[in-house]
Amino acid sequence: VIVTHVSLRDYRNYAEAELSLSPGPTLFVGSNGQGKTNLVEAIGYLSSLRSHRVSSDAALIRQGADFAVIRARIEHAGRQISAEVQLNRSGANRAQLNRSPVKMRELPRYFSSVLFAPEDLALVRGEPAGRRRYLDELLALLSPRLLGVIADYDRVLRQRNTLLKSARASRVRGTGLSTLEVWDERLVEIGSDLIAARSELVAELLPRVQGAYRLIAGEDHAVGLTEYRSILSRHPDDDDSLDGIPSDQAMISAAEARAVFQRTLDAVRGKELERGVSLVGPHRDDLVMALNGLPARGYASHGESWSLALALKLAAAETLRNGSGGGDPVLILDDVFAELDERRRGRLSTAMDGFEQVLVTAAVPGDVPEGLRQHMVAIEAGRILD
Ligand SMILES: Nc1ncnc2c1ncn2[C@@H]1O[C@H](COP(=O)(O)OP(=O)(O)OP(=O)(O)O)[C@@H](O)[C@H]1O
Ligand SMILES: [Mg+2]
Repeated sequence: VIVTHVSLRDYRNYAEAELSLSPGPTLFVGSNGQGKTNLVEAIGYLSSLRSHRVSSDAALIRQGADFAVIRARIEHAGRQISAEVQLNRSGANRAQLNRSPVKMRELPRYFSSVLFAPEDLALVRGEPAGRRRYLDELLALLSPRLLGVIADYDRVLRQRNTLLKSARASRVRGTGLSTLEVWDERLVEIGSDLIAARSELVAELLPRVQGAYRLIAGEDHAVGLTEYRSILSRHPDDDDSLDGIPSDQAMISAAEARAVFQRTLDAVRGKELERGVSLVGPHRDDLVMALNGLPARGYASHGESWSLALALKLAAAETLRNGSGGGDPVLILDDVFAELDERRRGRLSTAMDGFEQVLVTAAVPGDVPEGLRQHMVAIEAGRILD
């Protein structure tokens, strides 16, 4: 996949902007606060449907404007596609493909990108939610069916939580809970699909993350990826935080997950009614990473955590390259090189070789290896200069 043209309107600090892009690497340069990240954030939005920096879209709309528009021409499997998103300050966002309205979640089927940014450090050091999102975003890009499963699970979970909360408030017991059983069934059914899909993905990612880590760090620190599955937990009512590495390494099928999920759900029923929230399921799971047998979260050094975060992203890019019919994802590297030492810079740049399109931002062009610096675009105060 490559992006050949981008138009922005009232996006962040861009009033209007037009940009043509070529295959291969492009480096966006400019002083701090000029709009480099804003530009690549907009491009990334078309595949992840979110910003890598903020959770609410309101910050993406230019101050004083009611809506923002991101439009891109994309070359996908030899076809030209035009994709457009309108972000509205009030009301739902809207998407178009080739000028016809589509659901937002259709867009990632035509455009995939992987964005590397300083925020990725949170994949290693932050809360489990970020790691779940990493896996789920990748699943969604790999398979439209799983995109549906993830959306369905979210919906069922929300509805079940609402029911649990009102049951708690009104102290409903017995008959009032028959509706809950219907939601239990849905939760187990859809949740088990998601658990199995994540498990398969993690097995596929592991050798790639190990390879990417060796490549970036220049050393082998025996990267481990183990899933924490709340349906298997003995204390599912504790919160997500984990100190150790789960011992269970095996892949799990949807059928196996279903049986376990149902059993655990029955066992925590009382506690769920007490708390008014769903305590087990893929929304409570985690991906535990280890270096040399120690949990990376809490033990790994800053540089090691960084290498691991980059390795996760690189592994995602390779998985997409292998798994999707549409070719390579567009690689977006926002402010990444400034964080790395000279050797890691060189190795990361080598890892980008051969990807169809690579978009890089840097305040200091000298931080970026030669090979990614051939084509530069200057950004100044929300304007794209040539
Ligand atoms: N919704 C918005 N409306 C208007 N301006 C905005 C909006 N959101 C962000 N900005 C402005 O955009 C600028 C930041 O742009 P951006 O993050 O792209 O900078 P950058 O070029 O990546 O800088 P750095 O080199 O520091 O990373 C800030 O000046 C900020 O005030
Ligand atoms: Mg920036």
